[in-house]
Amino acid sequence: MAASETPWWRSGVVYQIYPRSFADSNGDGVGDLAGVTARLDHLVDLGVDAVWLSPFYRSPMADFGYDVSDHTDVDPTFGTLADADALVEGAHRRGLRAIFDWVPNHTSDRHAWFLASRSTRDDPKRSWYVWRDPRPGGRPPNNWISAFSLDGERPSWTLDERTGQFYLHSFLPEQPDLNWDDPAVPEAMHDVLRFWLDRGVDGFRIDVAHAIGKDPALGDNEPGRRHDQDWPSVHPRLQAIRHVLEEYEGDRMAVGEVYLLDQAELAPYARATDELHLVHNFVFLNLPWSAPRFRATVDEFEELAGPGAWPAWCLGNHDHPRIASRYGRGPARVAAMMLLTLRGTPFVFQGDELGLTDVEVPPERIVDVDGRDPVRSPIPWEPPSSAGPGAGFSTGEPWLPMTPEAERLAASAQVGDCESMLSLYRALLALRRATPALREGSYKSLEAGEDVYAFERGGDLAVALNFAPEPRRVGATGRGSLLLSTRPSAPRGTEVDLATLTLEPDEGVIVAFA
Ligand code: GLC
Repeated sequence: MAASETPWWRSGVVYQIYPRSFADSNGDGVGDLAGVTARLDHLVDLGVDAVWLSPFYRSPMADFGYDVSDHTDVDPTFGTLADADALVEGAHRRGLRAIFDWVPNHTSDRHAWFLASRSTRDDPKRSWYVWRDPRPGGRPPNNWISAFSLDGERPSWTLDERTGQFYLHSFLPEQPDLNWDDPAVPEAMHDVLRFWLDRGVDGFRIDVAHAIGKDPALGDNEPGRRHDQDWPSVHPRLQAIRHVLEEYEGDRMAVGEVYLLDQAELAPYARATDELHLVHNFVFLNLPWSAPRFRATVDEFEELAGPGAWPAWCLGNHDHPRIASRYGRGPARVAAMMLLTLRGTPFVFQGDELGLTDVEVPPERIVDVDGRDPVRSPIPWEPPSSAGPGAGFSTGEPWLPMTPEAERLAASAQVGDCESMLSLYRALLALRRATPALREGSYKSLEAGEDVYAFERGGDLAVALNFAPEPRRVGATGRGSLLLSTRPSAPRGTEVDLATLTLEPDEGVIVAFA
């Protein structure tokens, strides 16, 4: 890359693939890597620049792959190492970058490291995980609570009878936490990065990145101060990870899942120029559908993170209800425009470009420990009337129910329809690609009318989004011509005055200043 060129992870758009639910090539009802490779052209036609794949490594699947039992092999459910290589190669051939998920905070309890660690107190790998004696009365070592607590709060400690000590697991008991305070752990986990970097991977999404720094004294969590994550030691650890990426040519990138619901706590991660390249912002993702709330949040983040930081925006992933279910179908179109026009790198979750909603999962088919099945329903590629009930996702019985709307929302059914969500995403992505101000321009929010969130990009254009299900006046200053509306029938090129322009219910527009 020439020094003046913007790196791909700043100018591009990333698309998240949840491999189990994307495309199944062998008819077993579960998506796989060969399925992904066969569908890469969908992403090229959509107009994204990179794919991030959720984990496909060897795993007992207690948390569907976020419990890794071998970091350097592919689970047979998803294929083989050769399939992973073919995927990266297929992506690169099409000009797409490929980023993989890396889960540094914990492993599976079946990982060879943990099996050794739990075997005896004096095993050399004992200190690779966090072991502590019970407190008096057999109580867990401290008050830390594990993340999946659907059926009530549970300690993040499990007693291992064999050696009489508790081990730490911030998530399921099947996901013991690695002990990053033992230097052997970062060393081994860096080698995992190198294994995939050597194979050509363009970067990583780092699972719960803020959790690899914890209070080594294991102090109790207190109101306003957690000791089980976001400890100062996390920052040098992220720096060291960045250094591993920098051993390689070609702009390798790390985006962190930093799940902190306070932008002031998130900002240090975003501001640091020698740690993560990008951080996901879950304050933004969790907002209610409100123009003033989105404006205030984006403005606050821009302010806290500073001009050197580059935001990463996402409104969905495999852990959260879908946009069209949270906000509604009309707002989902406006949300797409917002996501793809803010200053920063947008992340699109698979199926949001089709306007999918969460799919009801009957009790007997629930498989996730944390209620996330509805968002993980498989992608409908073709209408069931032509492709059968698997809708082109699978010739077998999909592992989770297919959306009952597959006939209408299938990708192939949306392609020729200029009113479809897919057509809107394609138009937005094409415009973004063709418009430097949208990719790299500065951001400034504008004073606007009630329920309208409006902002300027690079001084060249404005975006105005109506969050109300009723017409609303934009009421901002500026004139120009309409580049794109979320309303397919709105004539492009029309001259508009933002002061008097009235947006239709759930309409967003992009206006190029005259
Ligand atoms: C992250 C992942 C989630 C997983 C958890 C534990 O939050 O996104 O799916 O369950 O980490 O690895």
